Amino acid sequence: MSIHVTDVHAREILDSRGNPTLEVIVHTETGAVGRASVPSGASTGSGEALELRDVHAERFGGRGVLGAVGHVRGDIREALTRRAFRNLAELDEALIALDGTPDKSRLGANAIVGVSMAAARAIATQNGEPLWHSLAPRNDDVQLPVPHFNVVNGGAHAANALEFQEFMIAPLGARTEREAVRTGAEVYRALRDRLRSAGYATGLGDEGGFAPAVDRVEQVLDLLVAAIEDAGYTPGPGGVALALDPAANGFHRDGLYHVGGSALTSGEMVDWYEELTTRYPIWSIEDGLAEDDRAGWVELTARIGSRVELVGDDIFVTNPVTIEKAIAEGIGNAALIKLNQIGTVTETLRAIEVCRRHGYAQMVSHRSGETTDDFIADLAVGCGCGQIKSGAPARGERVAKYNRLTEIEDCTLMKFGLRAL
Ligand code: PGA
Ligand code: ZN
Repeated sequence: MSIHVTDVHAREILDSRGNPTLEVIVHTETGAVGRASVPSGASTGSGEALELRDVHAERFGGRGVLGAVGHVRGDIREALTRRAFRNLAELDEALIALDGTPDKSRLGANAIVGVSMAAARAIATQNGEPLWHSLAPRNDDVQLPVPHFNVVNGGAHAANALEFQEFMIAPLGARTEREAVRTGAEVYRALRDRLRSAGYATGLGDEGGFAPAVDRVEQVLDLLVAAIEDAGYTPGPGGVALALDPAANGFHRDGLYHVGGSALTSGEMVDWYEELTTRYPIWSIEDGLAEDDRAGWVELTARIGSRVELVGDDIFVTNPVTIEKAIAEGIGNAALIKLNQIGTVTETLRAIEVCRRHGYAQMVSHRSGETTDDFIADLAVGCGCGQIKSGAPARGERVAKYNRLTEIEDCTLMKFGLRAL
């Protein structure tokens, strides 16, 4: 069935950090309505599509999105209501052409991705299918993903001294989504108890993880292993494993990594990761090195890539062309997938496809600035990548995604788990 858009609305709403973002609503001729709201990152890669913000300092300290809202209500509405589209890919191509820039800076990637997501929802509704089904390139691939819960926050997401941004727990041993979510919540609770009894504050960072005044990575890893055991689980791949997102761009300056009071070379970082992944049950590391340290990435991949998942986020920016180039260089073995880094659903699916073709894993991801929109839960299921990260098992904007995953599980007999490469 072709898609005939009859109206497109947008408005400025607030995200989980109290910053403005867009909500977009797309109507089609059949009466279908699709709604989406747009996430926003704090530690962004330099190659990300451009998030358009207003320049008026008197509104939201210059972070307003009325310009982007205006583009949706104006140029985009005009272009989409003028003709029918055969599918989402064709509609997304029209958005890309209308913008006309390589980084979506004219209309704003935040405007474009909101429209693309809302259109994807309207199309699913129009076709009478769940969003995950409508996003699935191949029905055989659909699968419920293992959630990666970010339970300790540092870096750009917290005011503590931790340079590493995210410390995640991944219930790889769970047999169902529901069991994985329960495991995450139980370990999170056990961690809160541990932190309290050790005298740490249990305030939260931007992604709902605790932000204790700990400054050494190993201290956090020890706390996590203890909390997993306190909750009655086994640390490791058969139970609950650990995953890190150091987001190393954030502490890479003048060619050195400034972490834990030392300034480490790229080679010293690789040695450290090798040691950490031997001492602790860490199964995945994202952005262990900075986006411009390509030689370091190649070295890290050669050294531990056969036993540890190495995820590119800031270095890949969900860009199919960038990912393909990095794959040819031997960088990493997995990609983080964020819709707003590239700016349309179709290009996001293309990035996933590139990874698939080359045997790279994919982890679908939220942003640190979020809303209760649960689109990424359906995306992860539809592409069947087997992994998702959406922050802590706490706070409305984070649990919206995990709750949607258990809803999908309740409604289907879908398989759950990591997708083996
Ligand atoms: P961001 O962080 O959403 O602030 O960019 C998430 C990440 O680095 O994975
Ligand atoms: Zn990251």
